[in-house]
Amino acid sequence: MTETTTGTAAPEVHTITTWDEARDAYRQKALRQALYDAGEVVMGDVLVNLHGAEHRDRRRLENRLFRRETFELYERELFPPIIAETYAPYLEAGRAELVDLGHQLMMNLAALTAGVDRPLGTPEETRHLYDYLMRFIEGATLAHYTGDQDAKRAEVAEKLAAFDAEFVQPSMARRQAIIDAGDEPPRDVLSILMVNQDDLHLPHDVIVREVAFYLLAGAHTSATAFTRVAHHIFTWLEAHPEDAETVRTDRLFVQRCTHETVRLQPSSPVAMRWALEDVELRSGRRIPKGDKVVIDLLAVNRDPVVFGPTADEFDPRRELPDGVPPYGLSFGSGMHACIGQDLAAGLIFHPDDGSLDEHVFGLVPEAVQVLFDHGARPDPDDPPEMDASTTRPYFGRYPVVLGS
Ligand code: HEM
Repeated sequence: MTETTTGTAAPEVHTITTWDEARDAYRQKALRQALYDAGEVVMGDVLVNLHGAEHRDRRRLENRLFRRETFELYERELFPPIIAETYAPYLEAGRAELVDLGHQLMMNLAALTAGVDRPLGTPEETRHLYDYLMRFIEGATLAHYTGDQDAKRAEVAEKLAAFDAEFVQPSMARRQAIIDAGDEPPRDVLSILMVNQDDLHLPHDVIVREVAFYLLAGAHTSATAFTRVAHHIFTWLEAHPEDAETVRTDRLFVQRCTHETVRLQPSSPVAMRWALEDVELRSGRRIPKGDKVVIDLLAVNRDPVVFGPTADEFDPRRELPDGVPPYGLSFGSGMHACIGQDLAAGLIFHPDDGSLDEHVFGLVPEAVQVLFDHGARPDPDDPPEMDASTTRPYFGRYPVVLGS
């Protein structure tokens, strides 16, 4: 902390840009989540905002869902029909716009994981859910809102109440009927919370926010990754036409392209923490109590000490040092490490793992694979555009042609 001219202490911000310091910072128990400080309207008491024993207990419970058998169930049984149903009209039309398609796909996948039933199953219903999601994101990032924050907070609270009545309560009623009949409820976050309500003592509004948070954590991150992976592969194929066949036949290659994309373009580009105590990192950096730590993942994931002189380049065949994940630290690390990482990006394949038949590829690679199975290429008459409403590098439109 430093003294300001008025004598009050202003927190200093320590920005971390190297791999080793980032790993070390993520491990520190005295560093507490700071990313959603003004966002309690959506993020109050949700997993990523909890600390210490409270976080440990909730995480332990929700971890029960995020196990290999669940990934296999989702990847082999639950997601394929959603992927097929969402793609069908586009395959028929022979063209698609990837930003919208990616949002629909990942929204539906995240709804399934969170336990939000979609009784109609129509594209309109998916877009309606997405509208809710965008309001929730505004609520979570209220600290950066430049307009009237109180008015925005009230608007988001209203949306959350409407989401509860329209989606969460009917989803709970359906699960309760299944539980009352002595049957197994679906494998999703909402069921886990309901079955363990006696241990957790969660008020209804916390359950609603936890479910909304799972939509938010799963859908937007994976949707932006989806379009970016496709873009990186298109660009790679221009320079490496010899891989045109590889993207159709080698699903591990598409998974590696996903990991390399997520490394270069982390969906959540910064992590933030408050120091609850004085902290000293192994590098010798001291972070006094009350200061803020910002982990700059764009820089960390391009640290040349770890990724070499070509760290800035997209290279799905890059050699990695032992113990360095191919997606860098884009899924975080330590206590808040992304619970959905293996679901979204799959497991890392090692040749001694045996057959690829058993491999979990991940939902983003699976969804991207379908594009290349159907010969997707950028529409030569309608080039992609960036999203002009944000300074972040999101695509606004990405038209592609499908079919051979
Ligand atoms: C490409 C896709 C994804 C990316 C890049 C991503 C990234 C992240 C990151 C960086 C964090 C750590 C935040 C921090 O340290 O402050 C995180 C946490 C989390 N993510 Fe993901 N995520 C993705 C997909 C998903 C999916 C599909 C789900 C749900 C099924 C999910 C659920 C969560 C949850 C619940 C947390 C909080 C964990 C905790 O606090 O213990 N994420 N994610």
